[in-house]
Amino acid sequence: TLKTVHSVAELRAIVANWRAEGLRIALVPTMGALHFGHISLTEYARQTADRVIVSIFVNPTQFGPDEDFGAYPRTLPDDQKILDGAGVELCFAPSVTEMYPDGFATKVSVDGSMTDVLCGAARPGHFDGVAQVVTKLLLQALPDCAVFGQKDYQQLMVIRRFAADLNIPVNIIGAPILREDDGLAMSSRNRYLTADERKAAPTLNRVLTEITNAAAQGADIDPLLDAGRKEIITAGFGPVDYLEVRDENTLELVAKQVIKPSRIFVAARLGKARLIDNRAIEPG
Ligand code: PAJ
Repeated sequence: TLKTVHSVAELRAIVANWRAEGLRIALVPTMGALHFGHISLTEYARQTADRVIVSIFVNPTQFGPDEDFGAYPRTLPDDQKILDGAGVELCFAPSVTEMYPDGFATKVSVDGSMTDVLCGAARPGHFDGVAQVVTKLLLQALPDCAVFGQKDYQQLMVIRRFAADLNIPVNIIGAPILREDDGLAMSSRNRYLTADERKAAPTLNRVLTEITNAAAQGADIDPLLDAGRKEIITAGFGPVDYLEVRDENTLELVAKQVIKPSRIFVAARLGKARLIDNRAIEPG
């Protein structure tokens, strides 16, 4: 059955016992409001690990001043039931003061094109906050591996970057995006959607899939992206933050045609929610 701890000291004591038994340990960092997308990560983790830890922490340092930190759903009792049902051994749910006690002064920052583009452009400081909290979580638990979703593909790339740069001895694993039956990528923020917005939301994945299929056949991407933006707006979305094709490793912009493994990325506002999604484009 699931055990929940709130302090780094308790977390470390449990991990030390598992280590002494020679067990392999996986960490799945989350902000809670758990859904099947999160659980798919714990199942992925289970394939290589004997013990799975899920952290639940709504990290204030990765939210901008006008973002939804206050409104972000906090559902710990529900989350604990879900984790227990999924066979997860340990939930680490620290408070803000446990993570950032008085006097806390250290930043972790990943420079350059990887954090300036896509969500980094619209959310200044966001990836520094992610890098800061994930560095702490990795060092607190020191698992063998940590699993992150490709749903937040740019976040996964940023985490790979600082984990390598800082020699953090944890294997960073990326897991596929879990979708609803109608194609909408699962997200804690989907619960902000009204019934009508929820009906419009799968447009994002449909547009990404259409463009992916055409671009993989060698079609020019600019007209596809223009048509895609129009389709998203027509479906009832507010501004499209970005709809772009980028190199799957460097995140450099791809111009004209897709001739190397790439990804298409989208972010758009729908009512109170800002939805993101992405897909691989393998040139055929
Ligand atoms: P959160 O949004 O809760 O997501 C936790 C993890 O679940 C991330 O790795 C995310 O990519 C993954 N995830 C979310 N929806 C998914 C889906 N539909 N399919 C597959 N994976 C999915 O991302 C964060 O929290 C935070 O930034 C965090 C890394 C915990 C740092 O605070």
